[in-house]
Amino acid sequence: MKVLVTGGAGFIGSNLVIELVEKGYEVTVIDDLSMGLTKNLDPVKDKVTFYKHNVCDHEFMHQILDQNFDYIYYLAAVASVADSIERPMETHQVNHESVVDTLEYLRITNLKPKKFLFTSSAAVYGNYPELPKKEDQRVQPLTPYAVDKYASERMAIDYGNLYDLNTVAVRFFNVFGPRQNPNSPYSGVLSIVTKCLVNDEEFTLFGDGKQTRDFIYVKDIVNALIFISENEESNEVYNVGYGHQNTLIDVITMYEKASGKRLKLNYAEARQGDITESLADVTRLTELGFKPKWGLKKGLAEYWDYTMGED
Ligand code: UD1
Repeated sequence: MKVLVTGGAGFIGSNLVIELVEKGYEVTVIDDLSMGLTKNLDPVKDKVTFYKHNVCDHEFMHQILDQNFDYIYYLAAVASVADSIERPMETHQVNHESVVDTLEYLRITNLKPKKFLFTSSAAVYGNYPELPKKEDQRVQPLTPYAVDKYASERMAIDYGNLYDLNTVAVRFFNVFGPRQNPNSPYSGVLSIVTKCLVNDEEFTLFGDGKQTRDFIYVKDIVNALIFISENEESNEVYNVGYGHQNTLIDVITMYEKASGKRLKLNYAEARQGDITESLADVTRLTELGFKPKWGLKKGLAEYWDYTMGED
């Protein structure tokens, strides 16, 4: 199988690439390293074809797409909501235009991958209180990031329906695990908690800790991506979470148990715009036949072991 992963040196992308290589697939990675790191691909560096390149370079992308991939996983994105608010036009080019250009090239060249999978976000649901979040409920994209993710997932699905392409889109909930970069205040909370536990630093908890999230371990995300893309169903959107809601403070307590360490907590005002509750309805994914292998507890334990094994 020939597979293309855009954004393959990033957090989720690199975990996906490592698993695809393990499965014996021939993997090509495009990543401009604006957020990704080459060291994320160290475990497979002699086994993948890597291009340090921006997905907005259409000519380059067309040349690569001509290789006629079986699967295309589109993870390249400016993954920061804060960045999209600072630089809406630039992030739009990456998060939307590049996706449409890829779909359009597939259309005009009549290239037909077995699946084109676009990765979107629970951010498309915005602040509406309905829980759990169902794929067909109303959306409320409140930032350029969310608008572009929503537009791109729609475009992928519509290209699928209109031009006979096999496309899917997934909406990630709160993903955690190895290779998530903890160095921005807007990094995934569990990467920041990990860094604080390792360095015995104080962790700033915004709010009362009772906010809930549907945290999912990156290895289950990767398995879901592969499962969804290899399934014969197409032209559909899937939530990817566990369908379980945990308070932040409960997850921190679970993580303390897994690590055997105590987190120093400093409570601060809730962040402006922070949502209080998040939970995925995963019926659609479950009905497709997907079962997560790891779960929150085992995921936290493995994440900690991985962190301790790093240099
Ligand atoms: C996630 C996305 C965000 C998106 C939002 C909408 C990530 C990393 N962020 O935010 O881009 O807009 O979903 O669905 O996936 N927290 C702390 N201390 C910290 C960092 C975070 O207490 O140092 C708290 C936050 O205030 C929040 C919770 O932890 O209540 C989770 O934060 P985060 O990991 O950033 O995820 P979301 O807020 O769900």
